Amino acid sequence: MGKKVIVIGGTGGREHALAWKLSRSSQVEKVYIAPGNGGTGEVGENVDIQPNETDKLIDFCKTHSVDLAVIGPDDLLASGLADKFKQAGLATFGPSKKAAQIEASKAFAKDLMKKKKIPTSSYETFTDANKAAGYAKKQNYPLVVKASGLALGKGVIICQNFDEAEKAIELIMLKKAFKSAGETIIIEEFLTGSEVSFHVLSDGKNYAIFPTSQDHKQVFDGDKGPNTGGMGAFGPISWVSDALKDEVDETVIKPALEGLAEAGSPFYGCLYPGLMITPQGPKTLEYNARFGDPETEIYVRLLDSDLFELLYACATGNLKPDTVKWKLGYAVTVVLASGGYPGDYQKNIEITGVKNAQQIENIELFHAGTKLQNGKLLTSGGRVMNVTAYGDTLEEAISKAYGAVNQIHFEGMHYRKDIGKRETPKGIG
Ligand SMILES: Nc1ncnc2c1ncn2[C@@H]1O[C@H](COP(=O)(O)OP(=O)(O)O)[C@@H](O)[C@H]1O
Ligand SMILES: [Mg+2]
Repeated sequence: MGKKVIVIGGTGGREHALAWKLSRSSQVEKVYIAPGNGGTGEVGENVDIQPNETDKLIDFCKTHSVDLAVIGPDDLLASGLADKFKQAGLATFGPSKKAAQIEASKAFAKDLMKKKKIPTSSYETFTDANKAAGYAKKQNYPLVVKASGLALGKGVIICQNFDEAEKAIELIMLKKAFKSAGETIIIEEFLTGSEVSFHVLSDGKNYAIFPTSQDHKQVFDGDKGPNTGGMGAFGPISWVSDALKDEVDETVIKPALEGLAEAGSPFYGCLYPGLMITPQGPKTLEYNARFGDPETEIYVRLLDSDLFELLYACATGNLKPDTVKWKLGYAVTVVLASGGYPGDYQKNIEITGVKNAQQIENIELFHAGTKLQNGKLLTSGGRVMNVTAYGDTLEEAISKAYGAVNQIHFEGMHYRKDIGKRETPKGIG
């Protein structure tokens, strides 16, 4: 009998991409996506249960004999959803609440980094706004002020002078812009260099490192404008050498996994450190405890192995790192966003041209903020769709992706035109 899998928290491009790749496994008979979006129904069955309806989700898994539950988003992991699934006897991909703290508490992560001598920016942690301001006054600028908790990617403020730092501290700690996520803050040294995402699958003991990738956070070309959830990604990054990867393994990945295991909370799932490659070498900006979005959209295009086997192996403590195989080419994903995003935007706008785009060779569309209504595909979020392409070269993948983007239209649609086109950073590669 084929296996049944459920992807939980399934409304984003990440979840559609995971469901797509799982559905291509020869072992998988059925993929459920809870609750899913306007595209996930093409690769599985959307299940109308919200991620906070834990008991309903567990009931569903039991009555439908689900073999593996894959939990996508950070807040669900931080709330201990993986623990509840495991307690219910379900094989679950995703870290425990305790291990997920490495993402959900930047203060926890910094302490771990200090303990394991992991390279990161110098910092102090504060729970008192006056003390924080006193510290900020004596620092060099730019300076980075971060809410410790989960803040939907908005809790990091880069300050050019003390005035800005004081305002950032006030916004996070006194005005409580990120609620309890800002009760503790980190003030840290500003790093310069090039940002790289690493993704690592771990079963608590064994781990496998993915090819590198790069996200494009800012809304406009040339990394201008406010930050978003991510406007596109590509990988692998040619200038990241094997030697640099080995250094990141030794100094950033291995000690973090060791540190969590030593603390009694081994990490099962996807560990995703965000790094700054500085002139002094790689430094950790943060650890995420789940797959990146939009990085996942390119990884599923690059992965040659069976994703079900890998995630199931992580969930059951049997990962064999040598069995994780990658294609030799490149993948690119371009995010199509609603007019106004990352600010206010309209919803329920009709999307056209999707069928034409899908017909292009080596293109897959992973939906995010879309929904199907009376047979029409409508927008329902800020990031609407990921247009992903695979190519033998990066140039080929880029040109394929934009060829497909040109087929799709909705009023107000905007996207970056420079995904994958960043120069090799100076002094590296
Ligand atoms: N110390 C730092 N120096 C320079 N830039 C930073 C620093 N810390 C964070 N950033 C920038 O802010 C972004 C978000 O910070 P990060 O720690 O990844 O928080 P989150 O993803 O939780 O919002 C990073 O991707 C990076 O661009
Ligand atoms: Mg980040």
